[in-house]
Amino acid sequence: MPSTALQERAAKLRGEIHTHNHRYYVLQSPSISDGEYDVLLRELYHLEGQYPDLIRPDSPTQRVGGQLSERFEKVSHLETILSLSNANGADETRAWFERIVRLHDFVGSASFVVEPKIDGLTVVLHYQEGVFVRGATRGNGEVGEDITNNLRTLHTLPLCVPTDSEGVQTAPQLLVVRGEAFIPSQAFTTWNDRLAAQGMRTYVNARNAASGALRQLDPKLTASRPIELLCYEVIVATDGFAAVSQWDSLAYLRSMGFPVADISRKFSSLDRAISYCEQWFERRDTLDYEIDGMVIKIDDLKLYSALGVVGKDPRGAVAFKFPAQEVTTTLREIGVNVGRTGVLTPYAVLHPVEVRGVTIKQATLHNFDFVSEKDIRVGDRVIIKRAGDVIPYVIGPLVNVRTGNEHRFEPPRICPSCAQMVTQPEGEISIYCINAACPAQRSRNLEHFASRATLEIDGFGDKLAAQLVQAGLVTDVADIFLLTEAQLMELEGFAEKRVRSLLMSIEAAKHQPLQRLLSAFGIRGVGAVASRALAERFGSLAALAQASPDQLQQIDGIGPSIATAVSEWFVRPGNQEVLRKLRL
Ligand code: IVH
Repeated sequence: MPSTALQERAAKLRGEIHTHNHRYYVLQSPSISDGEYDVLLRELYHLEGQYPDLIRPDSPTQRVGGQLSERFEKVSHLETILSLSNANGADETRAWFERIVRLHDFVGSASFVVEPKIDGLTVVLHYQEGVFVRGATRGNGEVGEDITNNLRTLHTLPLCVPTDSEGVQTAPQLLVVRGEAFIPSQAFTTWNDRLAAQGMRTYVNARNAASGALRQLDPKLTASRPIELLCYEVIVATDGFAAVSQWDSLAYLRSMGFPVADISRKFSSLDRAISYCEQWFERRDTLDYEIDGMVIKIDDLKLYSALGVVGKDPRGAVAFKFPAQEVTTTLREIGVNVGRTGVLTPYAVLHPVEVRGVTIKQATLHNFDFVSEKDIRVGDRVIIKRAGDVIPYVIGPLVNVRTGNEHRFEPPRICPSCAQMVTQPEGEISIYCINAACPAQRSRNLEHFASRATLEIDGFGDKLAAQLVQAGLVTDVADIFLLTEAQLMELEGFAEKRVRSLLMSIEAAKHQPLQRLLSAFGIRGVGAVASRALAERFGSLAALAQASPDQLQQIDGIGPSIATAVSEWFVRPGNQEVLRKLRL
């Protein structure tokens, strides 16, 4: 058994790390640098490594420590996890209120709490004496699945409460909290793009992606996905906290370290509550998560429970649903895009249609399997959804209104850009064009090389990339640095001024740090994070080129697949040619 001094040191480190985690992830106002944080975390890892007896389930080192499971255990909820009835718009919301006023006189003077209705996955979190011991899905409301180890990997989920070690609050004996886990819209798009680039199946929407991520049998996989959490209900709190109102519950959750939606508000009139909901309907795109409505709750919890439940819906709350963002239109054609890595992806060419003020002419069809699974045919009436900032996507066809003039779509056998035969590697759902000289791949590569996330060459967009490839001025990314004034002047739309400023931007790109150059190469799996790690460890392209996969894997965050991709990239003759030109 480690000495008392060591036990105390470990407890102190745990407390401090929890506090800093909370400040960083939940409050988004860190009070120490990343480096200082790493020092604390490393010390704790070191101590626990030497004395495994010091490891506690709520230690910040245990976020990804969970075991691989074969399946998820079923767990019975202590109380039924209720759902919500819907109201479409202001009139139905007023009708809901009139119904409950008739049941209970006091309701007439009630206050309301309005919260975002997050389109995610309900999670039920158990804390025993302040320590996170269990997390489950909603399931059917009575029985859910135990996903504790996966939930532990969520950075905003407190492993112990209260999070602030100096806090005056103490945790109840048992605390059960309900929240919603979700993937933020922006992170969803990035994640999906990465899956597509790796030839993997993409997710239809953020909700499915979050659900898939939380139901991984290996918690490491869950940890690698950008899942967030927002909490909104105290289901059980034995001793210590007796919530009087929903508004107090939210404040309590916040004080215990849980993430709570900052747009939640309290109103003393239903009209104002409704107008707040309507306001968020207009502004929903400014949120980084998807909401399919707002929730209006009677604030007074005594009144709320006195109103009772109909089926699984409490009478004291209602979902103010936003009008659907779905429309139907005709699928005119199915086009095929060729990505940077040669992945072919189908997209829908639509009869233009307006969704919430934006005209949509194209929508993604995800992949060829999606098209055949949904039996989407050219000429079909299809349902389109536009959610947040996400690219509009096709949900499926309306089979009942088929005229017989629709026709099935066959995935292409040749690349739409270079007309070479395409291939489908075994076990992958993507179809690839593997022709290194394919013009579409070349121009996507150039675009990526010059983009804002990589070498930031101003004035270098998709159009110029295509022009350069077509004119034969550029065959690989290094050729960008060899472009001359005379060559650029030949291009359509280029005059002296534009050429000069472009050449200046290209010159400036030569001075970008190594990590940006590395991510510009577009090596599989090597984005901003991995590039930084590689650049820090090796310092130069020459040194990196010499590294063995084993050496690469010793770096934090570099696993076997990235290590292999990097090694393979450096030996390919085309890339060696690029390196040779870059040394000029
Ligand atoms: S309250 C008794 N509040 O919406 C409490 N639900 O359609 C009932 N949801 O299953 C739920 N955000 O998963 C509540 N702020 C919020 C919510 C919320 C999202 C989900 C929840 C529920 C579904 C009902």
